[in-house]
Amino acid sequence: MFNRVPGTKDILPDQVRWWQDIERTSRKIFSIHNYQEIRPPLIEDAALFTRSLGEATEIVQKQMFIIKREEDLYALRPEGTASIVRAYLENNLDKTGSFVKFYYMGPMFRAERPQKGRLRQFHHIGVEAIGSKEPEIDVEVIALADTLLKAYSIQGYSILINSLGCPKDKKELTRILRDNLKDKLEQLCPDCQARFDKNVFRILDCKNESCQNIVSQINIGNTYLCPDCAVHFQRVKAGLDSLGIKYETSPKLVRGLDYYTRTVFEFKHGQLGLQQDALGAGGRYDALVKELGGPETGAIGFAFGVERLNLAAGTPEAALKDNLVYLVTLGEQARFQGLKILADLRQAGIKADTDYENKSLKAAMRKANDLGAGFVLILGDDELKDNAVMVKDMKNSTQEKVPLDKLGDYLANKGKS
Ligand code: HAM
Repeated sequence: MFNRVPGTKDILPDQVRWWQDIERTSRKIFSIHNYQEIRPPLIEDAALFTRSLGEATEIVQKQMFIIKREEDLYALRPEGTASIVRAYLENNLDKTGSFVKFYYMGPMFRAERPQKGRLRQFHHIGVEAIGSKEPEIDVEVIALADTLLKAYSIQGYSILINSLGCPKDKKELTRILRDNLKDKLEQLCPDCQARFDKNVFRILDCKNESCQNIVSQINIGNTYLCPDCAVHFQRVKAGLDSLGIKYETSPKLVRGLDYYTRTVFEFKHGQLGLQQDALGAGGRYDALVKELGGPETGAIGFAFGVERLNLAAGTPEAALKDNLVYLVTLGEQARFQGLKILADLRQAGIKADTDYENKSLKAAMRKANDLGAGFVLILGDDELKDNAVMVKDMKNSTQEKVPLDKLGDYLANKGKS
């Protein structure tokens, strides 16, 4: 027997219903906000991610699933943003559409150490709005994420926001962080000591207690923001205020990917019991389109981790019982006749099924009950003789014999009452 690969999950039918609900709700809300779906491939040139996310990031250093085919290196996509910017440029959307709003849903792959809420194959639901530097689109994107969480009935989350500023400001922020940390280097964990030179931002997210202690003493302030970036951030906050969206400004929120500039944000949920408690996150990446060969243009997006949404939403309810009509046949001839009855019901748009395991009447009734059938049809010798079927209403345990040529109408009327 084979087992699934660690860090992957089988989403079984009783859970799929929750996933379908989330996807349906998301599509509806994306459509209302005029975002269009995009479906890039799951596999890309590995260099796309190295270039976009940054050589020194955890994902590129340790987490990409790389496939080597002859001379070529491909990666299973660890995230969607880089693929979507690639698709935007490769399909000349910068020339034809210029400002576009995409949404996407699908699996992402990161070779992380699997644990609760952290998988090797997980799913994103996200958006990317490419082609604008205006702070109002930051507001729309953050508000959209908030609207989605509310529509998923998820409560108890908070929104953290920060601004990293433009690339020049980010350099200044890097300098401030190094200045604050340089005397305490020896107290940092070995990973953070390595991060000090390569990726100092990551030290702020380290879970090591000693590192967290040191980080808690740093005072970053926001003096590193140039006047334009400070105004941009101010306008984002004013926009969120005007929509009544509650957020906390968090100067230590820096995000783990190199492409971010200016606004960054995270949706955190305190009760997940996870090492990493972000339901989703995002931000601006105003330098990425140019970095990948396109024009100088702004862009912003976010992605939710669907498995984390699932943890926050609680155990999905067992499959909702819906009005299944379940046919129980007694004997070979009835089983044969049953095929036609089922086909007719389905043709009439009635959800119907039967027992294919040759169960006893009692066992078949139990199965119908387990499946949450609204009606059971019993077809035995007597019914066959009369060209009828016994219909048992499972809700109030009444039953009556119904001629086969009236069955569709009878069930349709019962379904309405
Ligand atoms: P990210 O923060 O790497 O951002 O991922 C977004 C969300 O995906 C996280 O907040 C988390 O909920 C979920 N997630 C990440 N890794 C895992 C994992 N191993 N297992 C389960 N869930 C996970 C991005 O990927 C950016 N592309 C978001 C973005 C879009 N920024 C701008 N546009």
